[in-house]
Amino acid sequence: MSGQLEISEVSKAFGGVQAVTRVSIDVRQGEILSVIGPNGAGKTTLLNMISGFYHPDSGRISLEGKDVTRLKPSHIAEHGVARTFQNIALFRGMTVLDNLMLGRHVRMRSGVVASFIYWGLAQKEEVAHRRRVEDIIDFLKIQDLRRRPTGSLAYGLQKRVELGRALALDPKVLLLDEPMGGCNHEEKEDMARFVLDVNQEWGTTIILIEHDMGVVMDISDRVAVLDMGQKIAEGTPDEVRANPQVIKAYLGEAKPTAGRGVAAGEPSGHGSGASRSEGRGAGSGQPPRSGEGGRRG
Ligand SMILES: Nc1ncnc2c1ncn2[C@@H]1O[C@H](COP(=O)(O)OP(=O)(O)OP(=O)(O)O)[C@@H](O)[C@H]1O
Ligand SMILES: [Mg+2]
Repeated sequence: MSGQLEISEVSKAFGGVQAVTRVSIDVRQGEILSVIGPNGAGKTTLLNMISGFYHPDSGRISLEGKDVTRLKPSHIAEHGVARTFQNIALFRGMTVLDNLMLGRHVRMRSGVVASFIYWGLAQKEEVAHRRRVEDIIDFLKIQDLRRRPTGSLAYGLQKRVELGRALALDPKVLLLDEPMGGCNHEEKEDMARFVLDVNQEWGTTIILIEHDMGVVMDISDRVAVLDMGQKIAEGTPDEVRANPQVIKAYLGEAKPTAGRGVAAGEPSGHGSGASRSEGRGAGSGQPPRSGEGGRRG
């Protein structure tokens, strides 16, 4: 495994708030790396820097050896990095199909002029893109919803369509900012399964921000922990779970549960149902979060 995405000493401040301080992470090709930490730890800011929405004040980000630190979001997308947003960012009045086709636009070569000159070519391309989007719709099991406006869908399904929009880019690296946030147990299970399937079937590298420790421990290859903008730990789920600094800053005191390792924070008694490897079943539950808004229900 090699460092596909190298994040080196990146920092970002907003006014007086130091959101991220000298964080370095080598993300390996084909892994699921989860980024965890309390509210305001800098997780979303880190993702925003990787996807080009913010540029770091200092430090460097390189993708497959190419410096992408200062590229615009659209260029980073062209390099194969797709993302979902913590708050769903879909066109609510547009259908599922159209939202996914829009997600595909960076992969479309023919511009308006070319479409006029090479009408047949553009049509052929359109058909190919359409086929790919239909594959994604099948993969996500949302065939029946393709003509529905996304705004009319249940929350968990909107989250799934958002994943689809990101997948439509055929990403090498997929950045998921709380894809299960606000979802109920069943929706979480489904989403965890889809994340694992994307990783395993297509070899997509995934950086996952998630607060549900059951899901994180079940599906991650590695976990990085941020606290107050700094990386305080990095390792396998088991290493991170046992790290006293992580327990202190985020997980809370570990409570042993019968034969299932430890449960973090408020045990809710369920895992994600999707496990990377047998025998890694973690006790589940969400650590206590400060300032949690209503959006997670
Ligand atoms: N655009 C912005 N302008 C000003 N401050 C910001 C901005 N974005 C983030 N911050 C601040 O930077 C810090 C890190 O925020 P960030 O959203 O990255 O945290 P997070 O780890 O994603 O938290 P959460 O778990 O609540 O999503 C916070 O103090 C936040 O208020
Ligand atoms: Mg966030």
